[in-house]
Amino acid sequence: MITKAVIPAAGFGTRFLPITKAIPKEMIPIIDTPTIQYVVEEAVDSGIEDILIISGKDKRAIEDHFDSNPALESRLAEKADQSWYKMVRHISNLANIHIIRQKELNGLGDAIRHARWHVGNHPFAILLGDTILHSDSKPVTRQLIDVYREYHQSVVAVQRVPQDKVSRYGIVGGHKISENIWEMTEMIEKPAPETAPSNLAFAGRYILTASIFDKLDETPRGKNDEIQLTDAMKALLADEKTFACIFDGKRYDIGNKLDYLKTLVEYGLRREEFSDDFRTFLKTVI
Ligand code: G1P
Repeated sequence: MITKAVIPAAGFGTRFLPITKAIPKEMIPIIDTPTIQYVVEEAVDSGIEDILIISGKDKRAIEDHFDSNPALESRLAEKADQSWYKMVRHISNLANIHIIRQKELNGLGDAIRHARWHVGNHPFAILLGDTILHSDSKPVTRQLIDVYREYHQSVVAVQRVPQDKVSRYGIVGGHKISENIWEMTEMIEKPAPETAPSNLAFAGRYILTASIFDKLDETPRGKNDEIQLTDAMKALLADEKTFACIFDGKRYDIGNKLDYLKTLVEYGLRREEFSDDFRTFLKTVI
């Protein structure tokens, strides 16, 4: 059983300045709901009970969002309309959420290293805190857990990206073993398009075995002088099989302004509270 998830959320969010000067990028709202709440909900809907958020300096808002707020709750409890009260209580009761801080920002791989003692020896999920994956069928982390149950090996969500965008992602090479599953033989973090082994890109969701922690300890700084999770996973290939799952769903990268605007429009279209006229207008935008 996979019951623990790690959500790295320590980065500066420089691509989204100036809002990220004082507000964590994971708290950037999709209409009225912070991005990281969607990520936590995906984990919970996938059967995860225990979530470790790797946070950093100036990220207090994330802790506060998932904590209870007695003053606000007692005010909302007095209202005739109890839906606000229930909603606020629901957020603080979503899961067992733990927070630790990454003191220095040394990359995604280093952030995950901080989870070692919390995770122990069991396989666990990683969900990047600035990326929403929406699926009408099954939460994407659940899709990965189902693959893990079949193969008992690490599995990572991937999606096809245009060839000219491969240098933004971790890219995998390997061979197809079923309709949507690849066995990975190679992976490169942010390759030049001419060296990319495919256009299958890591999409921000992983199920990894605990062996990744020893590999992370041995991983030198890589791309952008950071300790890369991709490099540690590549080292893991020598000892364990690793799979890539082309997930069913759509990825919204909130760290990217254009993607963010598209996310607002698409999530707006899903909101029944908006009038038909307004939703018709939103449709003209996309
Ligand atoms: C990280 C990973 C990369 C992955 C990407 C997905 O990169 O290192 O392999 O493809 O997330 O969003 P980042 O976007 O944090 O630079």
